[in-house]
Amino acid sequence: MNMPDMPTCLIAEDDIRIIVRRLGAEIGASYRDCPQQLVVVGLLKGAFIFMADLVRQLELPLAVDFLGVSSYGDGTTSSGDIRLTMDLATDIAGRDVLLVEDIVDTGITIAAVRRLLECRRPRSLRVCALLSKPDCRRVDVQVDFIGKEIDDVFVVGYGLDYAENFRHLPFIGTIFNTNKLPGKV
Ligand code: IMP
Repeated sequence: MNMPDMPTCLIAEDDIRIIVRRLGAEIGASYRDCPQQLVVVGLLKGAFIFMADLVRQLELPLAVDFLGVSSYGDGTTSSGDIRLTMDLATDIAGRDVLLVEDIVDTGITIAAVRRLLECRRPRSLRVCALLSKPDCRRVDVQVDFIGKEIDDVFVVGYGLDYAENFRHLPFIGTIFNTNKLPGKV
């Protein structure tokens, strides 16, 4: 098996820290008068590292839960076929919910998850995404808090993967030669 090239750094660790701190301040300010405990829902697997850092920036009463969705298989383009791989343990009816996503690309995943959660009648539902690729949007979705907009490039690291590779990298990088990656079929 070929070894993959190391991704080229796009957003360094220190810059991620600054972005997450800013998002924490924005979210904190907007839920300051929230009368009840916020439910922060992370989308697995990509948001697991971002979620862990983000909640530590939030000085609010909050609960955490996770929703598992998969949409990409081993490729780098959205299949549009969203599968629920793990459901919430929390009943979100009447609750204030913040959905935490790693990256919004076509918008198909977040639109589908929004529809799913809205059926459960939360009191409010907002979305926070670390990254957004506005040029790739195929459906119009509302993203209330965005860490950084990026161009149409495939990124890995800080929870984001290519075929389950690179999630553990502390920075966000781009990969160009996907043919050399382990897991490529
Ligand atoms: P969307 O449905 O096209 O918006 O895609 C959203 C999901 O696809 C994200 O939750 C990621 O898991 C994955 N994704 C989209 N773009 C990238 C990328 O550049 N790198 C890694 N995963 C991505």
